[in-house]
Amino acid sequence: TEFISANDLASLMDVSVNEVIKVCLNMGMFVSINQRLDAEAITVIADEFGYDIEFLSAEEEETVAEIEDDEADLQPRAPIVTIMGHVDHGKTSLLDYIRSATVAKGEAGGITQHIGAYDVMTKSDKRVTFLDTPGHEAFTAMRARGAKVTDIAIIVVAADDSVMPQTREAINHAQAAGVPIVIALNKIDKPGANPDKVREELSVMNILVEEWGGKYQSQEVSAKTGAGIDDLLEKVLLEAELLELKANPDRKAVGTVIEASLDKGRGYVTTILVQTGTMEVGDIVLAGPHFGRVKAMTDHRGKKMKKAGPATPVQVLGLTGAPQAGDKIQVMETEREARELATQRQQLAREQSMRTKKHITLDEIGRRL
Ligand code: GTP
Ligand code: MG
Repeated sequence: TEFISANDLASLMDVSVNEVIKVCLNMGMFVSINQRLDAEAITVIADEFGYDIEFLSAEEEETVAEIEDDEADLQPRAPIVTIMGHVDHGKTSLLDYIRSATVAKGEAGGITQHIGAYDVMTKSDKRVTFLDTPGHEAFTAMRARGAKVTDIAIIVVAADDSVMPQTREAINHAQAAGVPIVIALNKIDKPGANPDKVREELSVMNILVEEWGGKYQSQEVSAKTGAGIDDLLEKVLLEAELLELKANPDRKAVGTVIEASLDKGRGYVTTILVQTGTMEVGDIVLAGPHFGRVKAMTDHRGKKMKKAGPATPVQVLGLTGAPQAGDKIQVMETEREARELATQRQQLAREQSMRTKKHITLDEIGRRL
């Protein structure tokens, strides 16, 4: 089997492809830039440049991130919460209220920028991390990529409205993912609010709230006045306690990409949720098909951070590209290792896209037009 091209091998070793071709010529091998090389050729060429190559299978590669922790090393961590619900039922308002109420409590004057995840301290001084992604993306895109990030789902239902199709969908998603649900009956300040009607509708789909003898916690809230929101957070924390969420902060960080973009001034900005371990400035990270050294980390208020432990969202500067939401991110021992794996993944992605391209024939394109 052939692995990578002369060009990719050159970039792995941080040399020009011309040098690789020259070395090959000296050894009597005629190699072109895009020619794929087999294991033997790669080993011989790499040796000439002072590298030895380790061939990892896809499975071996995965285990890098999935090192099991010793029970003794685990420490409690904050819950990671996603807010879902029907259009206009108040997801954004609820998130905004929670964020602004806690911003006021922390540093005043912090400019809230949009970032896909943030953490807050509750009145009872416990940390809760929110994912600010449209609920469906959080569950579909990320779950499709094997990333399970959410511990608890808050399902928002406007009390002046009804259980709607997207409410049902959100509940189904959460249940399919095995994620506990807390119901927020929102817009309780509105004259037309009728939370009992919503509780009734929920019971029809087997979501029986605690007040009615069921197992689902629910809370009447107003994202406008803030009524009930502290209680909602306490209920989320209660749910979190039952889950006994733990992680090992004393290992190299593993996490998930929440979002990434290219900023003109700062380069690639990647929002990462650290799930286990602690990420530090200077760490070498592998994120999907990209890698880089963490140049700087900031929280959602733009405050510089040196370290980010489990269940902490951070914005990271220093990656060489923008990974996709749901991509796994892990800290690596060496830059070489990170570069190799990133290149391998890019190669794989390229091959896959070429394979898909081949299936589109001119005839098909014609028909689609
Ligand atoms: P999409 O993102 O479009 O799905 O909507 P959303 O669920 O994020 O709802 P959003 O927070 O944008 O709220 C929709 C409308 O309801 C806005 O006009 C809010 O101001 C209003 N609203 C949200 N929560 C409350 C509330 O508790 N009370 C009142 N009176 N209005 C609310
Ligand atoms: Mg919204």
